[in-house]
Amino acid sequence: MDSRWNLGFLSKVERLPSSFELWESIANDLPTLLKDSGKQLIDKVDRLPLITIDESSLPTEQHWKRAYCVITFISQAYRSIGQCTSLPRELAVPLVAVSSHLGLSPSPCYAAFVLWNWHLKNPSEPLSKDNFEIALSFTGSKDEAWFYLIHMRIELAAAPGIKAVIDCIEAIKKDDQQEVMRCLKIVTDCISSITGIMKEMYYECDPSVFYNKLRSFFSGSKEGIQYEGTEDPDTFRTYPGASGVQSSIIPLFDIFLGIEFEGGTKSFLDGMKVRMPLEHRQFLTDMKNEYKKDEFSHSILRTYVELHSCSKDTYNSCVKALVAFRQEHIDLVTNYILKPSNDTATEGTGGSTLEIFLTKTKEKTKSFEL
Ligand code: HEM
Repeated sequence: MDSRWNLGFLSKVERLPSSFELWESIANDLPTLLKDSGKQLIDKVDRLPLITIDESSLPTEQHWKRAYCVITFISQAYRSIGQCTSLPRELAVPLVAVSSHLGLSPSPCYAAFVLWNWHLKNPSEPLSKDNFEIALSFTGSKDEAWFYLIHMRIELAAAPGIKAVIDCIEAIKKDDQQEVMRCLKIVTDCISSITGIMKEMYYECDPSVFYNKLRSFFSGSKEGIQYEGTEDPDTFRTYPGASGVQSSIIPLFDIFLGIEFEGGTKSFLDGMKVRMPLEHRQFLTDMKNEYKKDEFSHSILRTYVELHSCSKDTYNSCVKALVAFRQEHIDLVTNYILKPSNDTATEGTGGSTLEIFLTKTKEKTKSFEL
């Protein structure tokens, strides 16, 4: 297998070199610095020097990713304190530089909170669901840690599914029906286990804590924020917040099964792809090109299944597993956003019109059963 995906879409990151100790100490101390209306955080940020970042100060990609996490956490924490219309130069300049290096937009996204926000509990053991913990937190609460951990466990559980999606291409080309069925079953099991893990969100993340205390840290900006010291400091930049919609797992399984969206749903999902790490975006494009030869053809998997009626049930089970995931996810959004808002919340942190969008993706998935 392509060993790149052994950890699914998760990446190991490294603590920053000592010249970044000020950033690290602020990011690691956010729960304390945010107390008393965040006065201590404001004070620390006011006294931050502008740290130069380049290939020599951040020698590895793991450092660049960690820098993105650290600066995103500090910036989002800073923004959460009262009315903030501009991001100070000492945060804005490095945020723009690090994001540009990583091919990300200079705003919060899922990678900072989930994909790169963990470390091994025991570094001498491999990554497993019991051997990692979250690295950074705004509140230090068990609810916040659990919220990230569930997403991380889901990302890790997706690894065999990613491998099966890659393997299935060869199997289709070789007309190896057994292998195609095996890959389909692996992806089905993978989606079902992801759905099972998602249900565990309720164990330790209280919906009212999520809605009232955590959600704002992941938010974007509709009014816009000025990035001081950058090339266009007067522009008010607007951007969406971080959301699970920026995870590459479900888009990959959509590509695999040949599930396609239209209109506003498609534009919204495509727009979210630029908030995924570059290598994941590229991987999704590669997979799309493998599974769908041109704009007019069906996915090669669907075409293959249609020609071999005995694998139709296996394909349909996989579609059903994805419908079940999307239904469980709607329930989660109902419990974590709609109910605590007394049904007044209409938008997700990613900016979608919640209920319509999520129901549409579920219904559309259902329509792909053969
Ligand atoms: C309490 C937990 C969660 C909440 C409150 C939540 C909330 C949302 C919201 C509001 C959206 C709509 C897009 C937006 O505007 O942000 C969304 C979309 C999405 N979320 Fe979540 N989410 C949660 C957990 C998860 C988990 C664990 C995953 C797994 C990776 C996930 C994957 C997705 C996907 C793939 C979409 C796009 C919709 C689709 O493809 O059907 N979410 N989420």
